[in-house]
Parts: sequence; structure tokens; C-alpha cells
Amino acid sequence: MPTPITVVIFGASGDLTARKLIPALYNLARKKRLPPEAKIVGVARTAFTDDAYRDRMKEAVKTHGGVFDEAVWAAFAARLYYVAADVGDAEGTAPLKAWFDKHEGAAGGQRVYYLSVKPELYPELSRVLGTTGFNTEIGGYRRVVVEKPFGHNLATGKALNADLHKHWREDQIYRIDHYLGKDTVQNILVFRFANTLFEPLWNQQYIDHVQITVAETVTVGERLAYYDTSGVIRDMIQSHLLQVMALVAMESPSKYNADTLRNEKLKVLDCIPVPNLDQACKDVALGQYAGYRTELAALKAKLEKDAQALAAKGDHKKADEKRAEAAAINPLSKTPTFAAVRLTIENSRWKNVPFFIRSGKGLKKRYSEVMIQFRCPPHLMFPLPKDEILQCNRMTLVLQPNEGITLNFQTKVPDVEGTRLRPKDLAFDYRQGNEGKALPEAYERMLLDAIQGDASLFLRSDEIERAWEIMDPIIAASEKADAPDPQTYEIGSEGPDCSHKLLGEYRHWQPIG
Ligand code: BG6
Repeated sequence: MPTPITVVIFGASGDLTARKLIPALYNLARKKRLPPEAKIVGVARTAFTDDAYRDRMKEAVKTHGGVFDEAVWAAFAARLYYVAADVGDAEGTAPLKAWFDKHEGAAGGQRVYYLSVKPELYPELSRVLGTTGFNTEIGGYRRVVVEKPFGHNLATGKALNADLHKHWREDQIYRIDHYLGKDTVQNILVFRFANTLFEPLWNQQYIDHVQITVAETVTVGERLAYYDTSGVIRDMIQSHLLQVMALVAMESPSKYNADTLRNEKLKVLDCIPVPNLDQACKDVALGQYAGYRTELAALKAKLEKDAQALAAKGDHKKADEKRAEAAAINPLSKTPTFAAVRLTIENSRWKNVPFFIRSGKGLKKRYSEVMIQFRCPPHLMFPLPKDEILQCNRMTLVLQPNEGITLNFQTKVPDVEGTRLRPKDLAFDYRQGNEGKALPEAYERMLLDAIQGDASLFLRSDEIERAWEIMDPIIAASEKADAPDPQTYEIGSEGPDCSHKLLGEYRHWQPIG
């Protein structure tokens, strides 16, 4: 008999579970990658029977899971369970313990605990699981998967790591940055280290600068209350963009494994000095989309109205909670929804090569890329028409949505008088290599890796703390009472004007999309 494997999802009635986790597990089953002995147990406070939960998740998979197959679903549903439990304290874990006694028996088994709950609850849930023996490795491993945000700044990031380390070894903790689960992001390493063509050019001698863009069209929407306490630097830059930057800039590890990869990423992060806090568009440009404050004011008004309605019904506890939520909202918030930052890497490979990284919501297109701007030829023998500037070689690794790689280079315009130049693209379309199908969701890879014990694509505590160290001063400066307002930008634009100044006179952002 194979050792049982159980994926326990805490927060099973939540949004992430329905949109990402269950669809990803279903797709792994559909592709026959989920080990046949694996079971999934959703845990939350709401009372559902197994069948009611399965019905709910079936709808989620139909909506968010891509290809739906009734037979695959039926087989998957038979492995999906639900336990209603309030695991906020030790007694609350009893129903889950009973489930394991029934399904694993005394021999135990292998378990992945996915904490898909509010980040404020991580320390408490980790402690409850730790003090009730759920971390004891009877019959196999115990792993705990944690979602970002990993703290709110360096101090709370360290405190969270310390809390987790009280009950789990570092090698049991799987911290997800879903950007690392994207095929195109992993392809950065394959592209660099499984080819000989590009790596010799990947340094200050040939590269002028690097741009990393993660642009979103969506505005903050329903996550406004959370987002306003976070902002784009915490939400995207400290995590996803610094990770992508580390992959672009790191040295080749000796082997592809969790330790070597994470060591190399950390070395890059260690070489990034804390950026200057010049808010005058030199090193940091912050923006907020037009209408953000109006959305906040509307949310505040709604929460106040909800509080009144609850109080009228006599539910004073919930009314007070809503009132407190409303009071916490500042309709004049300075939270940035866009940031562009100029970073450098102080080592021999990257000396004097700026990395411009930017991310924002409410922008022109949903589009993520890494753009490598190569240096211009030292001498150009072809005369250029007046006012024409040579566009020097660019390589663009498009992370989403039209995944691919383009290399932009100069060609001769055929059949014209004299020698005229024009830039053209050599293009690779990532989907063609996948029979035209969309690339898999990052969560499929991440969940399977957690089950199989491959932590290469998960973050280690030291990387996270270093990333906070780099970003903390910018965050702190932007949150000071007398900090200037972020520059307003129109929804559907390329961000605030200020972000263009960040590149100086001679460099330009590659247009978004
Ligand atoms: C999340 C952020 O980590 O990443 C969101 O919290 C953001 O604000 C999302 O929208 C972007 O992810 P993706 O995969 O859609 O680019």
C-alpha cells in the first residue's frame, strides 16, 4: 500500500481555494500528475457535508479550471473531503484529528497543510498545529504552505519567520510566490543557463540596462480594504518583481535544487543597495490611479451603512467590527497603485547597469515582461537620416499574456537607394511549443512541488527578509505623514509621467504591451 498523502486546505471556503487551489489540483488529476493516493481535505468553519462541498467546488472548477471533464471530476470528487472545524484553538482541531484517525490510521501518512487563511492568522494557526502534534512526522512528512504577504515590513517579516520556526523546520515551510510557478519565469533560467548564445553577453559589457514590467489593467476592486494597507511595493515589487530580477541577474547554480537556487538569488539581493529615496522621479516614482480615493470613500460609506443596518438588527458585535473597518479607511490615502524603482546590483557582472522595475494597476494592458537593452555598437559606419537614432538590440522575454521571446535587431531595408536600416524581430511564441494551448496555472506546479518536496520555487526566510530590507525605506518614506502624494495617472495609461523621468534623458520605457 502506498503511504497516504493528504493536502489539507485551511480556509477551504475562501476565494483562493475556489479560484486557484481546487482547480489546480483538479487539473493535476486530469493530467494524471496528482499521485493516485493523494486526498484533499478542505477545512473551514462553515458547515458543509462532503457532498455539498464537492458540489460547490465543481462549480468553481467549471468556472476557473479550464477543460472540464465529468468523468475526471467524478474521480477527483471521490478524493475530496470537507471537515467543518474552527482551528483557532487546540480543541477546535478535534474534527480534523478524527478525520485523520479514520483515513490514515495509526501508521500516519504524508501531509501538506496549505494555510489559505488571512495572513494575520498564520502565527496562530501555525502554533495550534504545532502544539497539537499536527507537525509530528508520523508515517511521513509534514509541510506547511504559506501565501504572501510574508509580513508587512522587515520587522513583521522577521517576526513571522520566527513564529513559523517555533513549530516547523525551515525545510518544512513552503512560502509561495506564484510568479516563480509561471513557466515563463522558470524559462528565464533555462534560457540563460541551457544555451551558450546569450550568457556571454549577459553582463555590463554588453547590456545597457534592464526593464522589468508587470502591468495590470484591473483596478483594486474588491480587495480595496486589504490593498490600501499594502500598496504596490509590498503587493508586487518586494515579492514578484524582486524575484524575477534575481533570476535575471543571478549566477548559474551548480545544480538545480532548492538550496543552490536560493543561495544564488540571495547573493543578488545582497548586492542590491537600498535605493535612494529621491521622490523627485530619480530613483523611485510612485503613482495612484485617478479615482482610487473615490473608491475608498465609497467603501467607507458602504461599511458605515452596513454597520448601521447591523446595529438596527441588534448585532452590535458585527456592527462594531464594520465601524472599525470603516474608521480605518482614509479617503485621502497616499497608497501607491503604481511604482517604478531604479535599482543597481553592486557586483562585477552588473556594475553600472540600472534595473528599472515597475508595476501598477489600472494600466493600459495586462502585460509582463523582462526587457534587456543591449549596448549600441561602439561605431556605426552606416549614416543615419537626420533626427534618426539607432534602436540598439533589445531582447524581450514576455512573461504574459503572449508568452514568448523576441530579439530585436537591425536589418537592411531591401531594394532602396543607399543603405537604410530598420529594426525587425526574431520571435519565439511559447504557446507553439505547447500545441497552441494556454500555459498551465502557476498553482499546479507549486502544489505538485509541495507534495513532492521540491522547494526550489518557494522562498526561503533569508530571501524574504533581504527583500524587505531593500524595500522598507521606500515604503516608510511613502507612508510618513508629510510624504508627498503619489502622482495621479489616468486609468488605461502607462502610469504617471514621473516614471518616465526615472530613466533619464536617453533611455525610454518599452511601451506597455
Ligand atoms: C498577486 C497580487 O500576488 O499577484 C495581486 O496580490 C496581483 O494584486 C496578482 O493582481 C498578479 O498576478 P498575475 O499572475 O495575475 O500576474
